Amino acid sequence: AGRPRVFSGIQPTADSFHLGNYLGALREWVAMQGEYETFYCVVDLHAITVAQDPELLRKRTRLSAAQLLALGIDPDRSTLFVQSHVPEHAQLSWVLECQTGFGEASRMTQFKDKAARQDAEHVGVGLFTYPALMAADILLYQADAVPVGEDQRQHLELTRNLAQRFNSRFGETFTVPAAHIPKSTAKIYDLQDPNAKMSKSVPSGVIELLEDPKRSAKKIRSAVTDTGREIVYDPENKPGVSNLLAIYSSLTDRTVDELQAAYEGKGYGDLKKDLGEVVVEFATPLQEKVRGYLDDPAELDKVLRRGAEHAREVATRTLRTVFDRVGF
Ligand code: ADP
Ligand code: NA
Repeated sequence: AGRPRVFSGIQPTADSFHLGNYLGALREWVAMQGEYETFYCVVDLHAITVAQDPELLRKRTRLSAAQLLALGIDPDRSTLFVQSHVPEHAQLSWVLECQTGFGEASRMTQFKDKAARQDAEHVGVGLFTYPALMAADILLYQADAVPVGEDQRQHLELTRNLAQRFNSRFGETFTVPAAHIPKSTAKIYDLQDPNAKMSKSVPSGVIELLEDPKRSAKKIRSAVTDTGREIVYDPENKPGVSNLLAIYSSLTDRTVDELQAAYEGKGYGDLKKDLGEVVVEFATPLQEKVRGYLDDPAELDKVLRRGAEHAREVATRTLRTVFDRVGF
Protein backbone atom coordinates (compact mmCIF):
# COMPACT_ATOMS: atom_id res chain seq x y z
CA ALA A 1 0.00 0.00 0.00
CA GLY A 2 1.20 3.49 -0.82
CA ARG A 3 1.06 6.54 1.37
CA PRO A 4 -2.38 7.77 2.43
CA ARG A 5 -3.72 10.29 -0.01
CA VAL A 6 -4.75 13.83 0.81
CA PHE A 7 -6.77 16.39 -1.13
CA SER A 8 -7.21 20.04 -0.24
CA GLY A 9 -8.18 23.18 -2.12
CA ILE A 10 -8.11 26.93 -1.70
CA GLN A 11 -10.12 29.59 -3.53
CA PRO A 12 -8.33 32.24 -5.62
CA THR A 13 -10.59 35.00 -4.35
CA ALA A 14 -7.97 37.52 -3.18
CA ASP A 15 -4.71 38.94 -4.53
CA SER A 16 -2.95 37.69 -1.44
CA PHE A 17 -3.43 34.94 1.11
CA HIS A 18 -3.36 36.18 4.67
CA LEU A 19 -1.52 35.02 7.73
CA GLY A 20 -4.62 33.14 8.93
CA ASN A 21 -4.71 31.12 5.70
CA TYR A 22 -1.04 30.26 6.12
CA LEU A 23 -0.91 29.49 9.84
CA GLY A 24 -4.40 27.95 9.86
CA ALA A 25 -4.18 25.78 6.75
CA LEU A 26 -1.37 26.13 4.23
CA ARG A 27 1.52 25.37 6.56
CA GLU A 28 -0.17 22.03 7.26
CA TRP A 29 -0.35 21.43 3.50
CA VAL A 30 3.40 21.92 3.38
CA ALA A 31 4.00 19.71 6.42
CA MET A 32 1.91 16.85 5.02
CA GLN A 33 4.13 16.42 1.98
CA GLY A 34 6.21 13.28 2.22
CA GLU A 35 4.10 11.41 4.75
CA TYR A 36 1.07 11.69 2.45
CA GLU A 37 0.52 11.62 -1.27
CA THR A 38 -0.73 15.18 -1.60
CA PHE A 39 -3.12 16.72 -4.15
CA TYR A 40 -3.45 20.50 -3.79
CA CYS A 41 -5.82 22.50 -5.93
CA VAL A 42 -6.56 26.15 -6.65
CA VAL A 43 -10.35 25.85 -6.81
CA ASP A 44 -11.39 28.42 -9.38
CA LEU A 45 -14.69 26.63 -10.09
CA HIS A 46 -15.68 27.27 -6.48
CA ALA A 47 -14.68 30.92 -6.80
CA ILE A 48 -17.38 31.67 -9.39
CA THR A 49 -20.16 30.70 -6.98
CA VAL A 50 -20.02 34.43 -6.28
CA ALA A 51 -19.49 37.01 -9.06
CA GLN A 52 -15.85 37.36 -10.22
CA ASP A 53 -14.17 39.68 -12.68
CA PRO A 54 -12.64 37.35 -15.34
CA GLU A 55 -9.25 39.09 -15.64
CA LEU A 56 -8.94 39.37 -11.89
CA LEU A 57 -9.85 35.70 -11.41
CA ARG A 58 -7.20 34.66 -13.95
CA LYS A 59 -4.61 36.81 -12.20
CA ARG A 60 -5.55 35.57 -8.73
CA THR A 61 -5.42 31.93 -9.82
CA ARG A 62 -1.78 32.44 -10.86
CA LEU A 63 -1.02 34.48 -7.76
CA SER A 64 -2.46 31.71 -5.61
CA ALA A 65 -0.35 29.06 -7.31
CA ALA A 66 2.77 31.23 -7.02
CA GLN A 67 2.14 31.75 -3.31
CA LEU A 68 1.62 28.02 -2.70
CA LEU A 69 4.93 27.28 -4.40
CA ALA A 70 6.70 30.04 -2.49
CA LEU A 71 5.28 28.79 0.82
CA GLY A 72 6.82 25.38 0.19
CA ILE A 73 4.44 23.27 -1.88
CA ASP A 74 6.95 21.29 -3.89
CA PRO A 75 5.67 20.24 -7.33
CA ASP A 76 7.99 17.25 -7.25
CA ARG A 77 6.33 15.97 -4.09
CA SER A 78 2.76 17.26 -4.52
CA THR A 79 0.31 17.37 -7.38
CA LEU A 80 -0.42 21.11 -7.59
CA PHE A 81 -3.04 22.10 -10.14
CA VAL A 82 -5.91 24.40 -11.07
CA GLN A 83 -9.41 22.92 -10.75
CA SER A 84 -10.71 24.16 -14.13
CA HIS A 85 -7.79 22.41 -15.88
CA VAL A 86 -9.34 19.08 -14.85
CA PRO A 87 -12.88 18.95 -16.30
CA GLU A 88 -13.65 15.73 -14.40
CA HIS A 89 -14.41 17.84 -11.29
CA ALA A 90 -17.49 19.35 -12.93
CA GLN A 91 -18.49 16.01 -14.45
CA LEU A 92 -18.40 14.10 -11.18
CA SER A 93 -20.06 17.01 -9.43
CA TRP A 94 -23.14 16.56 -11.62
CA VAL A 95 -23.43 12.89 -10.75
CA LEU A 96 -23.08 13.70 -7.04
CA GLU A 97 -25.63 16.52 -7.21
CA CYS A 98 -28.07 13.90 -8.41
CA GLN A 99 -27.36 11.86 -5.24
CA THR A 100 -27.74 14.87 -2.92
CA GLY A 101 -31.05 15.52 -1.20
CA PHE A 102 -32.50 19.00 -1.60
CA GLY A 103 -33.18 18.94 2.13
CA GLU A 104 -29.67 17.97 3.15
CA ALA A 105 -28.14 20.62 0.86
CA SER A 106 -30.52 23.16 2.39
CA ARG A 107 -29.15 22.39 5.84
CA MET A 108 -25.59 23.50 4.94
CA THR A 109 -24.90 26.42 7.25
CA GLN A 110 -22.30 27.97 4.95
CA PHE A 111 -24.90 28.24 2.18
CA LYS A 112 -27.36 29.85 4.57
CA ASP A 113 -24.71 32.33 5.80
CA LYS A 114 -23.42 33.24 2.35
CA ALA A 115 -26.90 33.47 0.85
CA ALA A 116 -28.04 35.71 3.69
CA ARG A 117 -25.21 38.14 2.89
CA GLN A 118 -26.39 38.64 -0.71
CA ASP A 119 -29.48 40.00 -2.44
CA ALA A 120 -31.92 37.17 -3.10
CA GLU A 121 -31.68 37.55 -6.89
CA HIS A 122 -27.88 37.25 -6.75
CA VAL A 123 -27.84 33.94 -4.92
CA GLY A 124 -26.87 31.47 -7.63
CA VAL A 125 -27.67 27.77 -7.73
CA GLY A 126 -23.90 27.17 -7.74
CA LEU A 127 -23.68 28.50 -4.22
CA PHE A 128 -26.26 25.90 -3.25
CA THR A 129 -24.58 22.96 -5.02
CA TYR A 130 -21.07 24.00 -3.94
CA PRO A 131 -20.80 21.10 -1.41
CA ALA A 132 -21.41 18.53 -4.18
CA LEU A 133 -18.52 20.06 -6.14
CA MET A 134 -16.36 19.91 -3.03
CA ALA A 135 -17.31 16.25 -2.62
CA ALA A 136 -16.33 15.63 -6.24
CA ASP A 137 -12.93 17.32 -5.65
CA ILE A 138 -12.17 14.94 -2.82
CA LEU A 139 -13.73 11.71 -4.14
CA LEU A 140 -12.16 11.96 -7.62
CA TYR A 141 -8.76 11.39 -6.01
CA GLN A 142 -9.94 8.66 -3.62
CA ALA A 143 -8.54 10.79 -0.81
CA ASP A 144 -8.12 9.10 2.57
CA ALA A 145 -7.80 12.34 4.51
CA VAL A 146 -8.84 15.95 4.11
CA PRO A 147 -7.43 18.75 6.26
CA VAL A 148 -10.47 20.92 7.00
CA GLY A 149 -11.11 23.91 9.19
CA GLU A 150 -14.17 24.17 11.41
CA ASP A 151 -16.01 25.98 8.58
CA GLN A 152 -15.76 22.98 6.23
CA ARG A 153 -16.60 20.17 8.64
CA GLN A 154 -20.24 19.96 7.65
CA HIS A 155 -19.27 19.80 3.96
CA LEU A 156 -16.83 16.96 4.65
CA GLU A 157 -19.58 15.10 6.50
CA LEU A 158 -21.79 15.45 3.41
CA THR A 159 -18.89 14.19 1.28
CA ARG A 160 -18.63 11.09 3.47
CA ASN A 161 -22.38 10.52 3.26
CA LEU A 162 -22.35 10.87 -0.52
CA ALA A 163 -19.45 8.42 -0.84
CA GLN A 164 -21.22 5.84 1.34
CA ARG A 165 -24.54 6.38 -0.43
CA PHE A 166 -22.99 5.97 -3.88
CA ASN A 167 -21.04 2.89 -2.77
CA SER A 168 -24.08 1.16 -1.35
CA ARG A 169 -26.30 2.04 -4.30
CA PHE A 170 -23.86 1.32 -7.15
CA GLY A 171 -21.10 -0.80 -5.59
CA GLU A 172 -17.76 0.06 -3.96
CA THR A 173 -16.43 3.04 -5.89
CA PHE A 174 -15.18 5.74 -3.53
CA THR A 175 -12.81 5.83 -0.57
CA VAL A 176 -14.68 7.41 2.34
CA PRO A 177 -12.41 10.26 3.44
CA ALA A 178 -11.67 11.13 7.06
CA ALA A 179 -11.05 14.58 8.51
CA HIS A 180 -7.37 15.16 9.08
CA ILE A 181 -6.66 16.76 12.43
CA PRO A 182 -3.86 19.24 11.79
CA LYS A 183 -0.76 19.16 13.95
CA SER A 184 0.81 22.46 13.02
CA THR A 185 -2.02 24.97 12.70
CA ALA A 186 -3.37 27.80 14.82
CA LYS A 187 -6.50 29.89 14.54
CA ILE A 188 -5.47 33.50 13.97
CA TYR A 189 -7.62 36.43 15.03
CA ASP A 190 -8.18 39.91 13.65
CA LEU A 191 -5.59 42.40 14.92
CA GLN A 192 -8.23 45.06 15.52
CA ASP A 193 -10.91 42.70 16.83
CA PRO A 194 -9.23 39.70 18.47
CA ASN A 195 -12.59 38.03 19.08
CA ALA A 196 -13.16 37.63 15.31
CA LYS A 197 -11.03 35.43 13.07
CA MET A 198 -8.56 37.14 10.77
CA SER A 199 -10.31 37.45 7.41
CA LYS A 200 -9.73 39.23 4.14
CA SER A 201 -13.05 41.02 4.55
CA VAL A 202 -11.59 43.20 7.33
CA PRO A 203 -8.50 44.93 5.84
CA SER A 204 -7.32 46.77 8.96
CA GLY A 205 -6.90 43.65 11.06
CA VAL A 206 -5.41 41.31 8.47
CA ILE A 207 -1.77 40.62 7.58
CA GLU A 208 -1.64 39.93 3.86
CA LEU A 209 1.33 37.83 2.82
CA LEU A 210 1.98 40.02 -0.23
CA GLU A 211 1.47 43.48 1.26
CA ASP A 212 4.45 45.73 1.97
CA PRO A 213 6.04 44.07 5.03
CA LYS A 214 6.49 47.53 6.58
CA ARG A 215 2.74 47.90 6.45
CA SER A 216 2.35 44.55 8.23
CA ALA A 217 4.76 45.66 10.97
CA LYS A 218 2.75 48.85 11.36
CA LYS A 219 -0.52 46.92 11.69
CA ILE A 220 1.06 44.80 14.40
CA ARG A 221 2.28 47.90 16.24
CA SER A 222 -1.27 49.24 16.27
CA ALA A 223 -2.93 45.90 17.11
CA VAL A 224 -5.56 46.05 19.82
CA THR A 225 -4.13 44.73 23.07
CA ASP A 226 -5.78 44.17 26.39
CA THR A 227 -5.99 45.99 29.67
CA GLY A 228 -3.21 45.25 32.10
CA ARG A 229 0.39 45.07 30.97
CA GLU A 230 1.46 41.48 31.45
CA ILE A 231 2.44 39.42 28.45
CA VAL A 232 0.68 36.15 29.19
CA TYR A 233 -1.11 33.65 26.98
CA ASP A 234 -4.72 33.79 28.17
CA PRO A 235 -7.07 33.70 25.16
CA GLU A 236 -10.16 34.14 27.34
CA ASN A 237 -9.14 37.30 29.16
CA LYS A 238 -6.34 38.57 26.93
CA PRO A 239 -7.31 37.68 23.36
CA GLY A 240 -5.20 40.44 21.77
CA VAL A 241 -1.89 39.58 23.42
CA SER A 242 -2.60 35.86 23.11
CA ASN A 243 -3.14 36.23 19.36
CA LEU A 244 0.20 38.04 19.01
CA LEU A 245 1.95 35.32 21.02
CA ALA A 246 0.34 32.61 18.87
CA ILE A 247 1.49 34.31 15.67
CA TYR A 248 4.98 34.87 17.10
CA SER A 249 5.33 31.27 18.21
CA SER A 250 3.97 29.92 14.92
CA LEU A 251 6.46 31.89 12.83
CA THR A 252 9.52 31.03 14.95
CA ASP A 253 10.96 28.01 16.70
CA ARG A 254 9.99 29.48 20.08
CA THR A 255 7.09 28.08 22.12
CA VAL A 256 4.50 30.31 23.78
CA ASP A 257 6.00 29.41 27.17
CA GLU A 258 9.45 30.47 26.05
CA LEU A 259 8.05 33.72 24.74
CA GLN A 260 6.19 34.43 27.98
CA ALA A 261 9.41 33.90 29.93
CA ALA A 262 11.41 36.07 27.54
CA TYR A 263 8.91 38.97 27.76
CA GLU A 264 8.44 38.90 31.50
CA GLY A 265 8.71 42.45 32.77
CA LYS A 266 8.60 43.90 29.26
CA GLY A 267 5.73 45.84 27.70
CA TYR A 268 3.30 45.31 24.84
CA GLY A 269 5.35 47.74 22.76
CA ASP A 270 8.42 45.50 22.94
CA LEU A 271 6.42 42.44 21.92
CA LYS A 272 4.80 44.24 18.99
CA LYS A 273 8.06 45.71 17.74
CA ASP A 274 9.78 42.30 17.80
CA LEU A 275 6.84 40.49 16.23
CA GLY A 276 6.79 43.13 13.50
CA GLU A 277 10.39 42.21 12.71
CA VAL A 278 9.56 38.50 12.71
CA VAL A 279 6.78 39.12 10.19
CA VAL A 280 9.07 41.25 7.99
CA GLU A 281 11.69 38.48 8.05
CA PHE A 282 9.06 35.94 7.07
CA ALA A 283 7.36 37.98 4.35
CA THR A 284 10.38 39.52 2.60
CA PRO A 285 11.97 36.32 1.22
CA LEU A 286 8.51 34.85 0.58
CA GLN A 287 7.58 37.82 -1.62
CA GLU A 288 10.86 37.50 -3.49
CA LYS A 289 10.03 33.88 -4.29
CA VAL A 290 6.50 34.79 -5.40
CA ARG A 291 7.96 37.44 -7.70
CA GLY A 292 10.31 34.81 -9.13
CA TYR A 293 7.38 32.60 -10.13
CA LEU A 294 5.37 35.51 -11.54
CA ASP A 295 8.36 36.75 -13.55
CA ASP A 296 8.62 33.38 -15.28
CA PRO A 297 5.10 32.68 -16.54
CA ALA A 298 6.26 29.86 -18.84
CA GLU A 299 7.71 27.98 -15.88
CA LEU A 300 4.57 28.51 -13.79
CA ASP A 301 2.45 27.27 -16.71
CA LYS A 302 4.66 24.22 -16.98
CA VAL A 303 4.32 23.38 -13.29
CA LEU A 304 0.52 23.74 -13.43
CA ARG A 305 0.26 21.76 -16.67
CA ARG A 306 2.29 18.92 -15.18
CA GLY A 307 0.09 19.00 -12.07
CA ALA A 308 -3.11 18.91 -14.12
CA GLU A 309 -1.81 16.03 -16.25
CA HIS A 310 -1.11 13.90 -13.22
CA ALA A 311 -4.38 14.89 -11.54
CA ARG A 312 -6.28 13.91 -14.70
CA GLU A 313 -4.72 10.48 -14.79
CA VAL A 314 -6.19 9.76 -11.39
CA ALA A 315 -9.44 11.64 -11.97
CA THR A 316 -10.30 9.98 -15.28
CA ARG A 317 -9.83 6.55 -13.72
CA THR A 318 -12.38 7.36 -11.00
CA LEU A 319 -14.79 9.04 -13.38
CA ARG A 320 -14.70 6.13 -15.84
CA THR A 321 -15.78 3.77 -13.05
CA VAL A 322 -18.49 6.18 -11.88
CA PHE A 323 -19.92 6.62 -15.39
CA ASP A 324 -19.89 2.89 -15.90
CA ARG A 325 -21.66 2.28 -12.59
CA VAL A 326 -24.43 4.80 -13.24
CA GLY A 327 -25.07 3.38 -16.72
CA PHE A 328 -23.35 5.89 -19.07
P1 ADP B 1 -11.14 33.98 4.40
O1 ADP B 1 -11.64 33.74 5.80
O2 ADP B 1 -10.15 35.06 4.32
O3 ADP B 1 -12.27 34.11 3.41
P2 ADP B 1 -10.91 31.28 3.47
O4 ADP B 1 -12.25 31.05 4.07
O5 ADP B 1 -10.74 31.27 1.99
O6 ADP B 1 -10.33 32.65 4.02
O7 ADP B 1 -9.94 30.22 4.14
C1 ADP B 1 -8.97 29.41 3.49
C2 ADP B 1 -8.35 28.48 4.50
O8 ADP B 1 -7.71 29.23 5.53
C3 ADP B 1 -9.36 27.59 5.23
O9 ADP B 1 -8.76 26.33 5.49
C4 ADP B 1 -9.61 28.31 6.53
O10 ADP B 1 -10.00 27.43 7.57
C5 ADP B 1 -8.25 28.92 6.81
N1 ADP B 1 -8.38 30.18 7.56
C6 ADP B 1 -8.97 31.32 7.13
N2 ADP B 1 -8.89 32.29 8.04
C7 ADP B 1 -8.23 31.74 9.11
C8 ADP B 1 -7.83 32.24 10.39
N3 ADP B 1 -8.08 33.50 10.75
N4 ADP B 1 -7.16 31.42 11.23
C9 ADP B 1 -6.89 30.15 10.86
N5 ADP B 1 -7.24 29.61 9.68
C10 ADP B 1 -7.90 30.39 8.80
NA1 NA C 1 7.04 27.86 17.60
